[in-house]
Amino acid sequence: MHDTLLLFGATGDLAARQLFPSLLHLSVDRLLPDAFRIVAVARQPMSTAEFRAWLSDKLAKEPSGGDAVGALLARIDYVHVDLGDAAAIAPALSAIRGRCVSYLATPPYLFTTIAHGLKAAGLLEEPSRLVLEKPIGSDLASARAINATLAACLSEDRIFRIDHYLGKAAVQNLLALRFGNTLLEAVWHHRWIESVDILVAETAGVDGRESYYADYGALRDMVQNHVLQLLCLVAMEPPSSLDADVLRDEKVKVLRALRPLRADTVAGDSVRGRYDAGLVDGEPVRGFSLQAVQGREPVETFVALRASIDNWRWAGVPFRLCTGKRLAQRVTQVVVNFRPTSHWLFEKPRRERASPNRLVLRLQPSENIELQLMGSLAGPEWGALQLQPLPLDLSMEPPLRRRIAYERLLLDALNGNSTLFVRSDEVEAAWTWIDSIEAAWREADAAILPYMAGSWGPGAAADFLRNLPTSAERARTVRSA
Ligand code: BG6
Repeated sequence: MHDTLLLFGATGDLAARQLFPSLLHLSVDRLLPDAFRIVAVARQPMSTAEFRAWLSDKLAKEPSGGDAVGALLARIDYVHVDLGDAAAIAPALSAIRGRCVSYLATPPYLFTTIAHGLKAAGLLEEPSRLVLEKPIGSDLASARAINATLAACLSEDRIFRIDHYLGKAAVQNLLALRFGNTLLEAVWHHRWIESVDILVAETAGVDGRESYYADYGALRDMVQNHVLQLLCLVAMEPPSSLDADVLRDEKVKVLRALRPLRADTVAGDSVRGRYDAGLVDGEPVRGFSLQAVQGREPVETFVALRASIDNWRWAGVPFRLCTGKRLAQRVTQVVVNFRPTSHWLFEKPRRERASPNRLVLRLQPSENIELQLMGSLAGPEWGALQLQPLPLDLSMEPPLRRRIAYERLLLDALNGNSTLFVRSDEVEAAWTWIDSIEAAWREADAAILPYMAGSWGPGAAADFLRNLPTSAERARTVRSA
């Protein structure tokens, strides 16, 4: 395991909210080597003592307690340097030796400069590794440019591109379910599956990240990475092993089989929205600030898409993808809708009112799996001719403490296991599809429809939002979250 972590962007939001708390938990659980050191790198001029005091404040709410925080802080040194100046980076890091993992938790426009600085400092030589936060660029061309610079600095097997959804236990469970069960293997096919819904709904808004969002919008911020990763795990062919490249080969094939969206059909295949002021969880919230987007193309905070995967397994099966901010409820779920039975024998409900089987994989805020069947047990006095929905709830006891996705990913990067990281061709294939949507929207001049914060997005998106959790399911989710 590598024992030196260089964390670029150490004073940023991601570092404070996710990365340092993850490192704290790993340290408490004694999962880091004794000699483990962190070099926190950022622009702000500060001494190590000042940085430790700042971080100690940020970690004050962590339940681990002061001693644990003190032990983590003792492992950290702070270095300030202008991250936009490659020539300044090497001298600032000249004292660092050893087996390093450099983690760039910075905006993507700094990736190439920092990589050049690290290369000049000798910190990308074998066996050092480089971890990059998403997004890798903002379109195919910029992603290619970043990937080309990285390739000139170090080999692909030492580059770890993060999509933190892959570090979530519930997302990994998609692989376990699909490839650990004969029952599902047999029906995972267009012959038996009618459609798939993938929803990532957030109640949080863009507050504080308006400028980033004005450049990205929901399509590039969420669909290009998290939503497409979920789609890949649902749709990929069985890999022959869990070897990093074998698994990623299969994901790339799915991304390459995504049918590009076209200007003449994009109106029916997508909806864009942006939230106005409204009420979320009973609290009034502001609309997406238009000031931040002045002079730039307006962007969406909600997107719904109908994706088609042009291959043998999925021909004719629509994948409805939907994500948005300031929606009515925080929920991430994948719903697999099976085809209706081929011949209907029962009096009630009538065939057209019968609900086909569905497999609901709820990933957030709590994790559960529900198989929706039909049965007559709910009304035995009427015999077997009247069917009722018979939901089979496969919830598990929530773990005592759910690990932050970054804990797993940090450990994997330190250990050199790249299975849960995204390869360069995967990023580029995802951007290729996203670029087709941006181009279709531009050509068709697709409107961005307003929706009220706290709603389920623009009314025009109703068809993309089937299978929302019912109020009973919602109550269950809130209790166990
Ligand atoms: C990030 C996006 O990658 O994922 C954010 O930039 C989004 O806009 C976040 O809020 C969602 O992550 P999670 O783990 O809260 O579902």
